[in-house]
Amino acid sequence: MMAGNWKMNNTWAETVVLTQSIINNAPDDWDEVDMVVCPPLVNLKAAFSVIEFDKAPIAVGAQNVYWEDSGAFTGEVSAPMLAEIGVSYCIIGHSERREYFGETDEMVNRKLKALLASNIAPIVCVGESLAVRDSQTHIDFVRNQVRAAFAGLDASEAAKCVISYEPVWAIGTGRTATPEQAQEVCFAIRSLLADEWGSDTAEQVRILYGGSVNVGNVDGLLAQQDIDGGLIGGASLDATSFCALAQACLK
Ligand code: PGA
Repeated sequence: MMAGNWKMNNTWAETVVLTQSIINNAPDDWDEVDMVVCPPLVNLKAAFSVIEFDKAPIAVGAQNVYWEDSGAFTGEVSAPMLAEIGVSYCIIGHSERREYFGETDEMVNRKLKALLASNIAPIVCVGESLAVRDSQTHIDFVRNQVRAAFAGLDASEAAKCVISYEPVWAIGTGRTATPEQAQEVCFAIRSLLADEWGSDTAEQVRILYGGSVNVGNVDGLLAQQDIDGGLIGGASLDATSFCALAQACLK
């Protein structure tokens, strides 16, 4: 799976151009990799308009959701609203939301449950800061984030989720985790899932790596046993590099 987190980038027109360009540059056997683009909310429909016109096998994801279905929550958008327009994935718990918008593990858990209730697959982001890594407690830290996000789920619900391991120190910094560092944490996540929900469920959950992934480092990351794809920020804003990253999943 290769998902592009476009963050707060691109106008409506730029969204149309980038989506079209991704379709034009996509790998031939693109239906064998789950390609997902996650534009800002107001541009979800712009991406859909191109994808639907071309009947392209590319899914559209949102970058945030609120956990209530409707009501007096000014500025928020609910999971049923996203589902109604065809959104099939939603990023939650991204470190930027945790850091700038106060998203807590408990909020991530509520959002996750709301998404599953609307048949939207959550892409749950977890990852440690540099201070936590330096203190060598990153495995426990990340496992606790996963435990909190998945609290109260049964095995069939857990299996529908995607987890993205994104060390905070690697996001947008050009400093990627080594394949071994990323694998160590992704393996720990998969082991936790196996302990809690059984090995079949653990195998079904896709675990992505995110944080300064580019065409130069993607192969080493994807070669790791427990890394099933990538969540891409900066490099997803360029159609050629995003498509090359999707292509790397097919090797
Ligand atoms: P980056 O962002 O690829 O620009 O480091 C990744 C992310 O924030 O998901």
